[in-house]
Amino acid sequence: MARTEDVRQMFNRIAARYDLLNHLLSAGIDRRWRRLLIRKLQQQDARQVLDVATGTADLAILAAKRGIPHIVGVDIAEEMLAIGQRKVERQGLASVVTLKPARAEKLPFSDRSFDAVMVAFGVRNFEDLALGLQEMCRVTRPGGMVAVLEFSTPKYFPLRQLYLLYFRHFLPLLGGWISGDRGAYQYLPDTVLAFPQGQTFIHRLEGAGYDQCRQRRLSGGIATLYTARKPG
Ligand SMILES: C[S@@+](CC[C@H](N)C(=O)[O-])C[C@H]1O[C@@H](n2cnc3c(N)ncnc32)[C@H](O)[C@@H]1O
Repeated sequence: MARTEDVRQMFNRIAARYDLLNHLLSAGIDRRWRRLLIRKLQQQDARQVLDVATGTADLAILAAKRGIPHIVGVDIAEEMLAIGQRKVERQGLASVVTLKPARAEKLPFSDRSFDAVMVAFGVRNFEDLALGLQEMCRVTRPGGMVAVLEFSTPKYFPLRQLYLLYFRHFLPLLGGWISGDRGAYQYLPDTVLAFPQGQTFIHRLEGAGYDQCRQRRLSGGIATLYTARKPG
């Protein structure tokens, strides 16, 4: 897995174009996936929520708009956080959403501080996935939940073949062209294709201390929403 410092520098480099590219390259479907994740948290009545790898704070802002009263977002890339902070302020959400620099593998919070922890498109970047998931479990209260949204690869013909073609060839070209950083958009398919998905990722969640792990494949398997509970 990539080193944290390389990942930090890469996201700092693409921060200014991140939001545009994110919605463009996913044709906006990521918004629907994010709404679904927030609904899961609301079903558990989560009020104090941590957004790990918050980036430019899209998920944290959505959670705030949907009525979750306290959200803390952490990320290693300060340029991503700076853009997120401006968005939070522009939308008048500064009393609800707090952003701070921190690594998933070393969260600066005491045990059991949050009702829920969420991550969107972040876990595959962790240098140490097991440690990041353990830390997320540590700061969750017993009975609280984790929700992880991550890209995955469709299983069946012809979506799988079309997706791989798009992901391996068009996306690095298009992303590189718009962001001016081809490496960053080559990194995306490389990490997605190498990342544990489905049942393998569920085993990682169990290994980190969660139970009641579930997965829901979205949009034909382009992304997967994983949820789990901290035993309590
Ligand atoms: C693809 S972006 C996702 C951002 C945001 N969650 C979203 O949904 O748009 C991945 C983010 O993970 C952050 N990141 C990578 N490794 C991290 C780590 N170990 N701890 C915290 N954040 C990390 C990067 O800086 C980047 O902002």
